[in-house]
Amino acid sequence: MSRSSICYLNGDYLPLDQARVSVLDRGFIFGDGVYEVIPAYGGNLFRLRQHLQRLHNSLEAIRLSNPLSDTQWQTLLQTLVEKNQHAPESDQSIYLQVTRGVAQRDHRFPQNTPATVFAMSHPLAPVAMEELQTGVAAITLDDIRWRYCYIKTIALLPNILLKQQAIEKQATEAILVRNGEVTEGSASNLFVVKDGVIKTPAKSEYLLPGITRDLIVELAQKNRLPCEECRITETELHAADEIWLSSSTKEILPVTRLDDKTVGNGKAGPLWKKMISVYQAYKQTLRKHAEGAA
Ligand code: PDD
Repeated sequence: MSRSSICYLNGDYLPLDQARVSVLDRGFIFGDGVYEVIPAYGGNLFRLRQHLQRLHNSLEAIRLSNPLSDTQWQTLLQTLVEKNQHAPESDQSIYLQVTRGVAQRDHRFPQNTPATVFAMSHPLAPVAMEELQTGVAAITLDDIRWRYCYIKTIALLPNILLKQQAIEKQATEAILVRNGEVTEGSASNLFVVKDGVIKTPAKSEYLLPGITRDLIVELAQKNRLPCEECRITETELHAADEIWLSSSTKEILPVTRLDDKTVGNGKAGPLWKKMISVYQAYKQTLRKHAEGAA
């Protein structure tokens, strides 16, 4: 039997298969909570400050006070990573969620109820370069979600329904369209390349401000690759030379088929190749920096 990973629940570290939460938890009853997904490369939490800032923003948006300080979060997450780091070079995906706690079912906020804090780790397998070059298929779907998509809420039913529709059409991701403009994927942000310019939808309440998205924009600027944050219409999406999806766990994924049509020449494009190498180099510098600091 494989060893159960160690998770964190309300102050304790314990095997994941032994962690228990009440059925009255508002996360279970209402989806009343927020989450983060943070990669840890070689034991180092990636862009932790940015993830904790977004967690803070999500908690503020749902009017739940942050149960831990940034220093406490850092200690908790770093301890969790260490407890699950079975080989020095291996990577992990850390999931954390905070819910409004356990109370009798009532739509109103409960009074004096401690938040439920949970975090767990999964191994993060490296994606093979050859597989990446082939790219993935995506379909466009109507963005049926609410207007607060900038909150990283655990209430993901619309995203799940959209993703499943894509899977059933043999696609990896659903690219969402609202009023003729593209927003993001069901679990990723979106980039298009046209005539050598990288474009991504500007931040708004209709999309999650992805940590990977922000890093790609930052790396494009540092490497003098033209990059714009702007509105992108569905027509522009279909006319793109390259389409990429970004997320903490998938990094940067080229889309080579969209709605059963080939994107560009059907292979990962030149700007994706440039960006993925810049991205990997950035990850490497963090590993070196961490080794140096150790
Ligand atoms: N999801 N947009 C949505 C709707 C997402 O769910 C995600 C990530 C992103 C990318 O954000 P980031 O670069 O910070 O991972 C954008 C995570 C990985 C998930 O739900 O598992």
